[in-house]
Amino acid sequence: MAYLQIAIDGPAGSGKSTVAKEISKRLGITYLDTGAMYRAVTLEALNHKVDLHNPEALKKIVNQMDLNMTVSKLYVNNIDVTDAIRTPEVTRNVSVVSMDAYVRSEMVKMQQKIALGQAVIMDGRDIGTVVLPNATYKFFLVADPTERAKRRLLELKAKGFEATLEALVEEIILRDELDSNREISPLKKAEDAIEVDTTSYTIEEVVVLILDYVKGVRK
Ligand code: DC
Repeated sequence: MAYLQIAIDGPAGSGKSTVAKEISKRLGITYLDTGAMYRAVTLEALNHKVDLHNPEALKKIVNQMDLNMTVSKLYVNNIDVTDAIRTPEVTRNVSVVSMDAYVRSEMVKMQQKIALGQAVIMDGRDIGTVVLPNATYKFFLVADPTERAKRRLLELKAKGFEATLEALVEEIILRDELDSNREISPLKKAEDAIEVDTTSYTIEEVVVLILDYVKGVRK
């Protein structure tokens, strides 16, 4: 039996995760934040102080990791890392770790396994192109970098981190470049994905728009 698969890709701060989480609630399907998985590998690598450019070291890290996800929590070897994967340090380093071929192939395998037996909505960079190439619906969310940095600034401030808009715009542009230009599974719109520019939309507007496609109200 073919389960419903919704792929949501796009750059950092385009609203993917918030939108995907909300749609999963409304449709009663599983949500998978694939970025959180790459963040978890990055956190482990940083904690073990390994060279993030060393494939052998990253392979070891991945192989000794037991990754578990619930609706709202992420555990590595039974330790709750839900908040720890969102620090600015992890964010700064995650693009380098997610360039690694072994890291990617292991994460993609896990993601595909999760989608085998249930309806899912997944957000990431390569869901429509690599993880779920036959997804029922594919969306590619984009937004102006300054708008994305503003969203990130609000998120960081809410968590008590200091940051400036200028620094965040720079960081977002750099991460876009690294994610879009890497050799394996770069951030790219799948040919059959629907592009949604969220710059001037509220979360609710994007959720409704995507649900309209899924319900067949919009084509
Ligand atoms: O969505 P996010 O910002 O939490 O993702 C963190 C990083 O993980 C992002 O900079 C690129 C990488 N990533 C990826 O390479 N492939 C995915 N499917 C999801 C995220």
